Amino acid sequence: MFKGSSRGIVWAALMVMTMTVLCSCETASQWVGGKEAKGSMDIDVTAFGRTPDGRQVRLYSLRNANGMTAGIINYGAIVVSLTAPDKDGNLGDIVLGYDNLQDYIKETPYFGAIVGRYGNRIGKGRFILDGKEYTLATNNDENHLHGGIKGFDKVVWADEPLWRPDGVGVKLSYLSKDGEEGYPGNLKATVIYVLTNKNELRVEYEATTDKATPVNLTHHGYFNLTECRRDILGHELTLKADRYTPVDAGLIPTGQLASVEGTPMDFRKSTAIGDRIDDDYEQLKFGGGYDHNWVLTKRAGAMTMAAKVYEPTTGRVMEVWTTEPGIQFYAGNFLDGTLTGKGDTVYQHRYGFCLETQHYPDSPNKANFPSTILRPGDTYETTTIYRFSAK
Ligand code: BGC
Repeated sequence: MFKGSSRGIVWAALMVMTMTVLCSCETASQWVGGKEAKGSMDIDVTAFGRTPDGRQVRLYSLRNANGMTAGIINYGAIVVSLTAPDKDGNLGDIVLGYDNLQDYIKETPYFGAIVGRYGNRIGKGRFILDGKEYTLATNNDENHLHGGIKGFDKVVWADEPLWRPDGVGVKLSYLSKDGEEGYPGNLKATVIYVLTNKNELRVEYEATTDKATPVNLTHHGYFNLTECRRDILGHELTLKADRYTPVDAGLIPTGQLASVEGTPMDFRKSTAIGDRIDDDYEQLKFGGGYDHNWVLTKRAGAMTMAAKVYEPTTGRVMEVWTTEPGIQFYAGNFLDGTLTGKGDTVYQHRYGFCLETQHYPDSPNKANFPSTILRPGDTYETTTIYRFSAK
């Protein structure tokens, strides 16, 4: 979208960038006008505007050998577009977002971003770690949500292109300073996005710290496999989970791990999202529909399928695989038609759903949940894969 007109500006930026990326690329001749090409996979780097403090934001346009594409910017590590084939082989953009940086800066419910340092909620923005109480920024009534007021979704990440034998990508890095949003420790975070030739968007997360700190990184993509032609209620969802974490009215887990059996939270068999979303069930009242963490049925740390979504009118299928123990299924209940996104699409109620792989919300305050504490000397490492096909 910024190609052509922005080439001049981009070129200057790329000259600087080339200096920094050459060590990770094979030869300088791969860089031609911001274009790096190898086989039929492609990485194109263009300008995507500037932040109010003048920082250049770049758009990485990735294309895999099958023609599938992903657009990723280094502001917020946001996936701004992602195309996937329908049953007739037509590629269409299946994520919500904006056409320009200004709209992302103005107002976004975390469209396509990486959220952190702690994705999801920490009750009252407080936790005790090694006997010391920490107070975090609160931005969701009395609670801390998705890293606080200026989380990882609102910062500019260092960026470099990435070639793999089976895909193309971008490596994004961010140093979150000691005390940022109230968190202890300098946290070095790296997120690698790879668009593979298996039609997957692979997200690899890594972090290290110099003081013990909670960490819970996730990708906050909003998907609509109809390309936003209608709401997401007809999408059929499977969740590989026997239990979920019930919440209170502020969407903070109570600490229980409840069985899904006999409730509208049971997605063990493929079920349309809209079938039970408005059932008279207390848990569904709290978030105005589905907005919960499911406890994945798996061996800790194993890469397993967490969710599968089938959209009958287009035949598109999305599978979510992860090493994480939980997944937040959020049905876009807070979208209300006030945000207008790409191509002037009005994002109406439930026009996108999120499947956020994660550790459970409020884990720093729940001794019975798997720990989210990263300590100096240890490395936080998780991987999530969004795999696309059609039938
Ligand atoms: C949360 C929702 C929240 C949304 C932000 C989701 O991850 O679960 O409660 O409203 O993010 O847009």
